[in-house]
Amino acid sequence: MSGAVSLAGKVVWITGAGSGIGRALAVEFARHGVRLVLSGRRAGALDETAGLLGLDDRQVWRLPLDVTDHGAVATASEAIGRHWGGVDVLVGSAGCGSRGRVEETAMAVDQAVMAVNYFGTVAAVKAVLPQMLARRQGWIVAISSVSGKVGTPERAPYVASKHALQGFCDALRAEVTDRGVKVLVVCPGYVRTDFPLGAITAGGGRHGRLDRNQERGVAPEKVARKVLAGLLAGRREVYVGGWEVAAIYLARWWPGLLARLLARRAGKRGDGSAGKEA
Ligand SMILES: NC(=O)c1ccc[n+]([C@@H]2O[C@H](COP(=O)([O-])OP(=O)(O)OC[C@H]3O[C@@H](n4cnc5c(N)ncnc54)[C@H](OP(=O)(O)O)[C@@H]3O)[C@@H](O)[C@H]2O)c1
Repeated sequence: MSGAVSLAGKVVWITGAGSGIGRALAVEFARHGVRLVLSGRRAGALDETAGLLGLDDRQVWRLPLDVTDHGAVATASEAIGRHWGGVDVLVGSAGCGSRGRVEETAMAVDQAVMAVNYFGTVAAVKAVLPQMLARRQGWIVAISSVSGKVGTPERAPYVASKHALQGFCDALRAEVTDRGVKVLVVCPGYVRTDFPLGAITAGGGRHGRLDRNQERGVAPEKVARKVLAGLLAGRREVYVGGWEVAAIYLARWWPGLLARLLARRAGKRGDGSAGKEA
């Protein structure tokens, strides 16, 4: 793919579009003259995002849904197909974090995080892929994380879900590259959003507060700009954030050093704040 690729008129479906990175991506895509489908559970948050786009109502469609409801995801994809002829770009940004050590974490928490971050995005991919392959064109954009590459302590359910997403996308890319569909995995470090608020605690509650690392993180708008640039340049992966992104390179080139650093960090804090899920 070359930089000459145009997104004008393309249909872009974003999950998690009611806040944070998903919202910033909606704004950035809108600048390229696309038609947008906004999904997430809170209809009011999708309305707020729609209000920021400067597009007329015929270019924006709010489709509230829960990505763990695979029937609703499939129904939404069919409706987009009927209404707009299909999805050109799927962006899976819906996600939730986790807090707590493995021995404290209820199995239901591992399953709940996996249901949103992994199976939710897999369901959306399966819903759009047949028509993308039939048209021999499309982009799948998965918002993963540095935690999709690195085993951050006290975040095992989250880390596992993002590693699974990375593996799924790598296998998918191998299958679809020669059939016209591109797969982009995005690995942000700390991003200044409300993401920590909705993280699930070891006992299944809501974390309900922000974390310092996210507060000092990069703006979601920066992530959105880098995603668009990566997509238009035909990249397989985009890394964006601060110093924490270096952990991806440590994992690749100095895994022993990274393992020691992470173990030291886990040893220092036992309060659920040893890792910040990036
Ligand atoms: N912030 C960071 O530091 C950071 C770093 C690396 C990666 N990420 C990744 O970036 C993505 C977006 O996070 P964010 O930082 O933008 O935080 P955010 O503002 O909390 O965004 C998460 C979005 O996911 C939606 N969502 C959650 N569960 C859902 C479900 N079951 N069905 C449909 N939508 C659901 C939420 O909307 P509703 O509540 O309305 O459903 C929300 O809009 C996540 O995948 C996260 O893992 C974030």
